[in-house]
Amino acid sequence: MTTLVIGGAGYIGSHVVRLLSDRGERVIVVDDLSTGLRARVEGSDLVELVELDVTRPDAAEKLAFQLRASGADAVIHFAAHKQVGQSVAKPELYWHDNIGGLANVLAACANAEVRDVVFSSSAAVYGVPDVDLVTEDLTPAPINPYGATKYVGEWMLADAERAHGMRTVALRYFNVAGAGHPELADTAVMNLVPIVLDALDRGEQPRVFGDDYDTPDGTCIRDYVHAEDLAEAHVAALDYLRGEDRPHRVFNVGTGTGSSVLEVLDAIARATGTEITPEIAPRRPGDPARLVCSTDRIEETLGWRATHDLDEIVTSAVQARRLA
Ligand code: WQD
Repeated sequence: MTTLVIGGAGYIGSHVVRLLSDRGERVIVVDDLSTGLRARVEGSDLVELVELDVTRPDAAEKLAFQLRASGADAVIHFAAHKQVGQSVAKPELYWHDNIGGLANVLAACANAEVRDVVFSSSAAVYGVPDVDLVTEDLTPAPINPYGATKYVGEWMLADAERAHGMRTVALRYFNVAGAGHPELADTAVMNLVPIVLDALDRGEQPRVFGDDYDTPDGTCIRDYVHAEDLAEAHVAALDYLRGEDRPHRVFNVGTGTGSSVLEVLDAIARATGTEITPEIAPRRPGDPARLVCSTDRIEETLGWRATHDLDEIVTSAVQARRLA
């Protein structure tokens, strides 16, 4: 079996590429290396890198050629912009690249008669849900262009299913952190764990955006999932698509357990052996007080559940940074 992984040199994509090649499958990585790193996908005879920007006008044709030439039977599509603030400032970049890129990917799959597609969606589709545990049945209500492009992407998958008989899965990621292998670590400093580690390395104290939320310690609660667990969810989704019955096409990927910002800081303090005295900053606009997922559907349908807790997530991120 051969899988084409678009954005496979990225942080999460490369974890999936590693799992697939470790189980003996051939992988064609398509990546423009704008944020992806060649080093993440080197070293296996089963993995080939094709440099290609899937947002270019000729990308659908080039991708269809790659699909046919490789005999790939499935596609996993990661390549996208993922910064909420940037999406608010430059929505056209997100429309063009996130939506346009997916349009090219789906057109190529239709052309090359590849039916199975796994798509990176996001908890950002839910916006600011006022529930304890977010289930997939909750109607999405994104509050920024990033989340909107992910929700539109899910509609596009449904349209492609109807038009071309495709079989698709959208995985709605919650807060991803940690590294399964140090060389696959998140090198961007955009989310809480890398931001805090970066501040500590510079001898600065991290900032907590608001401590007056209606939560037990006043700080925001999120569902942190290990990149290695998330990668396993993609492999489970692929196996599901390759099987017979397929009642669902959207799954939350998280642990079902919430951790507050202060709990994350405590875990980082333990893992680094550093004392952390955070600066309390104002609330960040658009932050829900709590965003934790129900994992019932993915556990029951894909047989997947996270096996790493917050301490393991943070420890793996700290170790990867030390070795970098
Ligand atoms: C986590 C918590 C912050 C930095 C984002 C996207 C979401 C998804 C995951 C991709 C929040 C707090 C942060 C800091 C802090 N992305 N924080 N000090 O916003 O939950 O989710 O990434 O699909 O769509 O919105 O993640 O890591 O930015 O923040 O107090 O310096 O940490 O307020 O409560 P977020 P995050």
